[in-house]
Amino acid sequence: MCPSVFEDAIETFLSPIGDLLAEEKVTEIMINGPGEIFAEKSGLVYKTPNKFTNEEALQAAMRSIAQSVGRKIDNENPRLDARLPNGSRIHAVLPPMARNGTTVAIRKFSKEKLTLKDLISFKSLSVDAARFLDICVFLSKNILVSGGTGSGKTSMLNVLGSRMPKTQRLIVIEDATELQIKAEHVVFFETRKADPTRGTTEVSIRHLLESSLRLRPDRVIVGEVRGEEALDLITAMSTGHSGSMGTVHANTPTDACTRLETLCLMGDVKIPPDAIRKMIGSAMQVIVQCARYHDGGRRTSHISECLGLDEFGRYICKDIYRWVQTGKDPQTGRYIGESVPCGYVPTFFEEIIVNKLPFPKSKFVAPDWYKKLMESGHGEGGH
Ligand SMILES: Nc1ncnc2c1ncn2[C@@H]1O[C@H](COP(=O)(O)OP(=O)(O)OP(=O)(O)O)[C@@H](O)[C@H]1O
Ligand SMILES: [Mg+2]
Repeated sequence: MCPSVFEDAIETFLSPIGDLLAEEKVTEIMINGPGEIFAEKSGLVYKTPNKFTNEEALQAAMRSIAQSVGRKIDNENPRLDARLPNGSRIHAVLPPMARNGTTVAIRKFSKEKLTLKDLISFKSLSVDAARFLDICVFLSKNILVSGGTGSGKTSMLNVLGSRMPKTQRLIVIEDATELQIKAEHVVFFETRKADPTRGTTEVSIRHLLESSLRLRPDRVIVGEVRGEEALDLITAMSTGHSGSMGTVHANTPTDACTRLETLCLMGDVKIPPDAIRKMIGSAMQVIVQCARYHDGGRRTSHISECLGLDEFGRYICKDIYRWVQTGKDPQTGRYIGESVPCGYVPTFFEEIIVNKLPFPKSKFVAPDWYKKLMESGHGEGGH
C-alpha cells in the first residue's frame, strides 16, 4: 500500500475520534476501551461523548496504524508504540493485559511549538527566570530537564535548544522525533528498533551518541535519557561538549541526579557507583524541574544549580528560582503564583559579569514575603 492509502485507512478507522484529532486545543486523547474516551484540553482532562462501535473496531484502527509503520499489533505483540502520519505519538496495549479493553494514549503533535515567550505568557515562568535560563544556555551550562510524565520536559528542552548561539553545531538524538529545535546548525538523529522480518538491527540512543561524538558537535541533546546512554551523556558533558542537555523522569532536582545515577548503572559498566556519582556531581550544572500541577497547569517548579556532592556523598542542589503558589482563581480554579528568586546566587555569577550580560545580582534576591514563607515552614508546597 502506498502511504496515502495508509493515511486514508487510518483516518477512516479513527473517525470516532476525528473531531478530537482535528480540534487544535486538544493535546492528548486517552482511550480506555471502546466506550470510554478522555481528552485533555488546555491542561484539563475531561470525559468525551466519543465512542468506538466495539472492541473490534478499535483494534482494527490499531492494526491499521501498526501496518502503516511496518509493525504488528496482535496476541504475540500486544503493545504498539508508533506515530500517526501527522506526527502524533500513539501507544496502545491490547486486552487481556489492558483490562478495560484496548487502551490507547495519543499525544498530539502540534506544529506550533511553545517558545520562551509562551511559557512566560502562560505564567509557567517569570521574565527573570526565563532570562536566567537563556543565560545558562548562552554560557554553555550542562542542563538536565527533569519532570514527571507530560510535565512539559520536551517542550522545555525544545525552548532551551532553540536559544543556542548561532555559531555552534548541535546534534539532537531522540527515540521518536519530537523536538523541533530552531537553530542554524543542527543535525537530528532518530533511533531504530530491530525488525527481524526486514533483517534490520537496533540502532540505540547509545549508538547514535557514540556516532555523534565523532561528528564534531559543540553540544549534544538527548531527547529522553531512559537507559545506559546516561553515562555517555555525562561523559560528553564533561569532555568538551559543555552546554549539552537531556531530560529525565524525576520529581525533584536531587531525584533527577539520583535517577541519572541509576540509569548510568543499568549498563554493563565497570565504573564503581561512587565514581559515577562524582562524575554526575561535577558534570551536571543546572536542573530545570517541570511539573504538572493539580489545576492542570504546567510550570517550571525549580531552576536549581547542582554543586556536586556533600561529605556524605549526597547531591547538593541549590534552588535559584522556584514557582510558588500564592492563591487560586475562584472562577477557573487555576492556581495563581510566580517564579521567585530563592536568595541563592549561582556559582557562575562571575561569568555573567565577565560576559557583560545584563542580569544584576539583585535578580537573585528573595522577596521578603518568600523569606517569611520559608521561615514559617509553609514554603515547600506540593504540586
Ligand atoms: N508550560 C506549559 N504550559 C502549558 N502547556 C504546556 C507547557 N509545557 C508543555 N505544555 C503542553 O503539555 C503537553 C506535554 O508536554 P511535553 O510533551 O513537553 O511533556 P513531557 O514531560 O515531555 O511528556 P512525556 O513525559 O510524555 O515525554 C504538550 O501538549 C505541551 O504543549
Ligand atoms: Mg517528552
